[in-house]
Amino acid sequence: METILVLDFGGQYKELICRAVRNLNVYAIIESGNISLGRVKEINPVGIILTGGPQSVYSENAPKCDERLFDLGVPMLGICYGMQLMTHMLGGEVSSGEVGEYGQVNVTCDFSESDLLNNIKLEFVALMSHRDVVSVPPPNFQVTAKSPNAIAVIENKNRKLYGVQFHPETRHTKFGKEIISNFLDVCGVVRKYRLKDYVSEKVESIRKHVGVKGVLLGLSGGVDSSVCAALLSKAIHGQLTCVFVDHGFMRKDEGDEIEKIFSKFDLNFIRVNAQERFLKAIEGVSDPERKRKIIGNEFVRVFEDESKKLGNIPYLAQGTIYPDIVESGGEFGSTIKSHHNVGGLPEKHNFDGLVEPLSGLFKDEVRKVGIKLGLPPNLVNRQPFPGPGLAIRVMGEVTHDKLEKLKQVDAIFRHELESLSKKPSQYFAVLTQTLSVGVKGDERTYDYVVALRAVSTDDFMTCEYSDLPNKLLRKISSKITSEVQGVSRVVYDISSKPPSTIEWE
Ligand code: XMP
Repeated sequence: METILVLDFGGQYKELICRAVRNLNVYAIIESGNISLGRVKEINPVGIILTGGPQSVYSENAPKCDERLFDLGVPMLGICYGMQLMTHMLGGEVSSGEVGEYGQVNVTCDFSESDLLNNIKLEFVALMSHRDVVSVPPPNFQVTAKSPNAIAVIENKNRKLYGVQFHPETRHTKFGKEIISNFLDVCGVVRKYRLKDYVSEKVESIRKHVGVKGVLLGLSGGVDSSVCAALLSKAIHGQLTCVFVDHGFMRKDEGDEIEKIFSKFDLNFIRVNAQERFLKAIEGVSDPERKRKIIGNEFVRVFEDESKKLGNIPYLAQGTIYPDIVESGGEFGSTIKSHHNVGGLPEKHNFDGLVEPLSGLFKDEVRKVGIKLGLPPNLVNRQPFPGPGLAIRVMGEVTHDKLEKLKQVDAIFRHELESLSKKPSQYFAVLTQTLSVGVKGDERTYDYVVALRAVSTDDFMTCEYSDLPNKLLRKISSKITSEVQGVSRVVYDISSKPPSTIEWE
């Protein structure tokens, strides 16, 4: 399959680059910036994109790529740090800019020598986020666009090497899609990639990878692991065992609902009731990262126990998707939070290997794959639910009593939102650690504050809070405070991501 290789130097938009390329019908994957030459040759990409990154090329540990990549004859596009790295490694000069550029700036083009700026306007706005600048391009590179304080585009048409200081992958750059598409033209792509190719390619590679051996899938009943189950079932039906671990942090009645749904499918499905085991494992722990890690660890221990009972199943499959990996921090990126199925996975486990067939996809792509595989829309369109469940929605230490309170509050909130014709992408309740004074009847109370969170988003990498009708919020608040013992106050979270994340922990 023709592939664009995106080399990661820690830039926060690398996944957007990948997705922009895939949306133009070319398959794209991300690998670490210091990938070996041999591995690049194995992947045999039609083009290479170097991402941005938080470092300066002059920093002590500045990430670099193998310099022989520039001589492969494969077209390359450096973005932001990627452009500066290309400049630095090929004999140009990078210097610290006097003012830096952050946000949308005007870029002015010179088309005469340009491949990248074909068919776009003479002037356009682009998203910049840099301090360093390319002050002298490498030998034989032309400057084809400038911004007020920087060289914006450099090109070496003979060697097919290009650099842009701005971020064409974000929607804040006016002709970003066209610029990436122009680069793909230079790569000579035929643009045949479709999501169904992902499915058939994965089916083949799963079969090749696991051979005739068994695979144990951790099935949570969420979108990702359900789609993963469908994909694995298509690839290696008889070899698959799906294990649903009820850790006790599911929403109200959810464990039973999941069992009911999956018992109907033609799958080897096992439910493990491990509520006490998990609660005990996080007893007294209030740090969110530790909770996540302990829960991730406990999950794998349960899977190991189940595998043993079934005669040692060699492979463990997980529904890890791309944003899980990004948020858990790449080699040069920073960890936002450890998603339980990635960062939380202990290094030592008894499985011979992992199978994560969805790890290159975004949520909306996963949903589309689910539909293609014949899963019912109500399952595929479920809102996401984090692996550690309500344990990261009870702030601080988790107890049975707090969990029960949160389950009731959350059930009321979710039930009331069911009536909306256009629902938020994700909505849930959080039990905070704050107690506040209230009055019930003529009595003073001193009880929990709960927070409600409802967000709209396409990819869960960023979000806006949802504008819920005031009347509905008032009704929900009154229901919660009158029906749930021990809750004195309800607040509505009006933060966006960034700077806040969707979950509170
Ligand atoms: P954040 O809180 O990082 O959440 O903005 C982004 C999306 O990811 C979900 N989430 C998780 N999913 N395991 C998962 O499978 C996790 O540990 C986890 N943490 C957060 C979250 O619900 C939101 O949809």
